[in-house]
Amino acid sequence: MNIYWQPTDTTYELHRFPKGNHDKSLQAWDSADELLVQHITAQKEDVTSLVILNDSFGALNVALHGHKISSINDSYVSQQALEQNLRINHLSDVYHDSSQQLDSLQAIPPASHVVLKLTKNLGYLEFQLQQIKRVNQACHIVAAGKTTQVTSSVLALFNKYFNQVTTSLAKKKSRLIFASHAPEKLDIESKYPVQTQWPEQNLTLFAHANVFSKDQIDIGGRFLAENLPQISNNQRIIDLGCGNGLLGLASLMQAQNNNANAEVSFVDESHMAVMSAKLNVEKQFPERLPYCQFIQDDCLTQQENLSADIILCNPPFHQQNAITEHIAQQMFKDAKRVLKPGGKLYVVANRHLPYQVQLKKHFGGFKVNNQNKKFIIYLCQKKDK
Ligand SMILES: C[S@@+](CC[C@H](N)C(=O)[O-])C[C@H]1O[C@@H](n2cnc3c(N)ncnc32)[C@H](O)[C@@H]1O
Repeated sequence: MNIYWQPTDTTYELHRFPKGNHDKSLQAWDSADELLVQHITAQKEDVTSLVILNDSFGALNVALHGHKISSINDSYVSQQALEQNLRINHLSDVYHDSSQQLDSLQAIPPASHVVLKLTKNLGYLEFQLQQIKRVNQACHIVAAGKTTQVTSSVLALFNKYFNQVTTSLAKKKSRLIFASHAPEKLDIESKYPVQTQWPEQNLTLFAHANVFSKDQIDIGGRFLAENLPQISNNQRIIDLGCGNGLLGLASLMQAQNNNANAEVSFVDESHMAVMSAKLNVEKQFPERLPYCQFIQDDCLTQQENLSADIILCNPPFHQQNAITEHIAQQMFKDAKRVLKPGGKLYVVANRHLPYQVQLKKHFGGFKVNNQNKKFIIYLCQKKDK
């Protein structure tokens, strides 16, 4: 695996997060990062402060660390990757003296340059462009992504909010987009959080811009919600990789219908996901708020051993643009540690996903709790001793 990166005249050592957990072909930066760093470095003293959005594993922040940076990220894993890579390159102190990390729902502070790494999610891109526009102060905007990401729809979004939108030539399969502040263009109100009705559960689900399946109920999640275990009084349930929180919310609904008092922890690495789940509990189960937790975490890293009765999980199989099993594997491993003896993990997965080996490895076996043409629900029980 290539871990040494020289975007300009300095070489940095960079790793994905968690270090050593990835396919050897995956590195912690790409050619779009390289173009962005080279462009900003060439601007020299014109750059007085930077806002960096969506830095996947900290490459942009590490390479541009001499500037005053506000780094905005929705991902806890990306934030941890940045801290890890700052430490490896002995830059933590110098970086934190002048820079700050902000979450994805915070307002964007004014800066001379805004550096944006394109994400696949167009709704989230538009949300971020609206936030940049709202700064309402002159700034240079430079974005980058793979040439396949610089589509006419993406350029149309830039033209909607900014002036002088141009692109660079492609280099190593990536391109830059340049734009400048447009005070005369209308400040369009964000449509987020969006709402989806879930009549079968009598619920309305709100979701912020970067939440998985924000415009519809995911069919895997829905299948697990329709097959929830019986929830008894005072059980602690974890909705692991909660997205908008549909599994935890369906559990609260079932508990309410059975007059049971359930405690639900909603856990996701996305800030917008955790905040969506919180909004949904506030709106629909306000009386259960004191018994719910909303936690941004990498799998269950921050959760205590032997602390949960039931874990519900519809695991991700992507990290950024890469297909990966390592997150699901970490989720199963953490679930085993966090469940109480006799506690149960329910996993819903597409039939083709190869989770059986890992579930067997951690729990000694599994049962098929239910299945349909597309999905299987696995049930693993932690042994009493
Ligand atoms: C397939 S979605 C399931 C969302 C929701 N539970 C549902 O059923 O619709 C997987 C979720 O896992 C989250 N996720 C990805 N990596 C994670 C990690 N390392 N730790 C915690 N959650 C993660 C994603 O943000 C996403 O919300």
